[in-house]
Amino acid sequence: MIGIILAGGNGTRLRPITNVTNKHLLPVYNKPMIYYPVEFHKSLGITEVLLTTGKEFGGEFTNLLGDGSRFGINLTYKVQEEALGIAHALGLAENIAKGHSMAVILGDNLFFLSNEETKSIRREVEEFARTPEGAVIFLKRVSDPERFGVAEVDENGRVMGIEEKPKNPKSNYAVTGLYLYDSTVFEKIRRLKPSGRGELELTDVNNAYLLEGKLKSHLLEGEWTDAGTFDSLHRANSLAKDIQGPSV
Ligand code: DAU
Repeated sequence: MIGIILAGGNGTRLRPITNVTNKHLLPVYNKPMIYYPVEFHKSLGITEVLLTTGKEFGGEFTNLLGDGSRFGINLTYKVQEEALGIAHALGLAENIAKGHSMAVILGDNLFFLSNEETKSIRREVEEFARTPEGAVIFLKRVSDPERFGVAEVDENGRVMGIEEKPKNPKSNYAVTGLYLYDSTVFEKIRRLKPSGRGELELTDVNNAYLLEGKLKSHLLEGEWTDAGTFDSLHRANSLAKDIQGPSV
């Protein structure tokens, strides 16, 4: 299982604070945002991790994280020359991840899960790594689904479709930024066309798995937030302080 962290993009919703830095280097309470996905991978037992980011601030990531050994992982890097979308960034992992299963985390997503829930996801990741087939998405009930990918779910909890930032969401189940993929993900990315916002979208990749009948979902219980807007970054800081508490 290869862990992948997508930490590129232009951070436009956080301007002007992202004018001179990358969003994932901003502090979330007592540590840089990028520490959270790194530590989340580690907590899931994933120690081979690839981080993709833009070229402007790539050096800052290597300065901060190095080879990952301080975190108990082996970290390598890939440059995304242009922010052409989340799925485009994942496509860069093909050489390294081909033939492997993958756990992908969006770099601005923070998960505050109980030890028990973390252990249960870790078991799910291990099981997926043993027999990788299809994809798994992780859903969370939210009050503002229109900001996210939104899953329409039937009465048995089966995903019927995913819409990216719908004006009229069909449910309040947001698709969080944690995904498990088999290696057919790269063929699916190659077939993508840019979305309305001009990007290659993971939502289209997930719908391609759904069409094949190979998309599973998992409803999260713990707290989760993105941190790509002023309000969500503020919430991330509060959650980190309240739940995680200061580091010692
Ligand atoms: O936070 C979860 C949501 O993330 C999902 O519900 C959506 O389905 C998904 O599309 C995504 O929505 P956002 O519009 O919030 O994604 P954003 O543009 O903020 O990018 C998410 C992460 O991906 C961010 O940490 C940076 C990275 N990224 C983004 C782009 C556009 C890249 O590495 N390269 C890119 O080209």
